[in-house]
Amino acid sequence: MQPISDAMSLFTHQRAVRAFSDRPVDDVTLGQILQAALHAPSSQNGLPWRFIVVRDAAVKDPLSDLYEECYAQVYGENEPDRAEGREPWSKTPVLVAVCVPAPNGRTSMMTGASVYPACQNAMLAARALGLGSVLTTLWRLKKDPIYALLEVPEGWEIAAILALGWPDRAYGPNRRPPLEQFVMHNRWDPALQ
Ligand SMILES: Cc1cc2nc3c(=O)[nH]c(=O)nc-3n(C[C@H](O)[C@H](O)[C@H](O)COP(=O)(O)O)c2cc1C
Repeated sequence: MQPISDAMSLFTHQRAVRAFSDRPVDDVTLGQILQAALHAPSSQNGLPWRFIVVRDAAVKDPLSDLYEECYAQVYGENEPDRAEGREPWSKTPVLVAVCVPAPNGRTSMMTGASVYPACQNAMLAARALGLGSVLTTLWRLKKDPIYALLEVPEGWEIAAILALGWPDRAYGPNRRPPLEQFVMHNRWDPALQ
């Protein structure tokens, strides 16, 4: 995909990419993406995130197998993303597990809500540079073996795993209904229920 420098185009062209070319994602490019994540807003500027970058097949392949099991569990034979060309994570160049503190196994609203702006910054930066990405949570069905594999300690949760790479093909804009269907003025509008 072509890089994007116009911010408004970035929002309409950032979309889920689930298949990637073999082109490696170099450290400088990945650094730019993670730097963008670091600059996201967070409650009290607490920066409540850690990023586990997974490139090593010894970790990525078992992660991929677990994720495939989640897809099979939810969709069986009728998986929509596979029909659109989704490939297993074993073929994804980089996975980033975005971790958040969870003392006593619970994230607070503030830390939980703080981690997704960082994910979005990373995905927008990726798209600006011409890469594709997708934010995933479906793997949480196999959370325990995944935490064991990534050696996530007690007191931390993974909020999302971002899959990243150079896309397998050019993707057009994302598709959304007209804005009017979502915006109310001054009061709740039952017509938009
Ligand atoms: C909280 C959240 C969880 C998601 N989980 C997954 C997931 O587990 N696997 C996946 O392939 N996509 C996942 N997505 C991506 C959405 O399916 C995707 O953004 C949505 O279908 C819109 O598609 P678009 O971004 O291409 O317009 C998730 C997105 C969000 C925001």
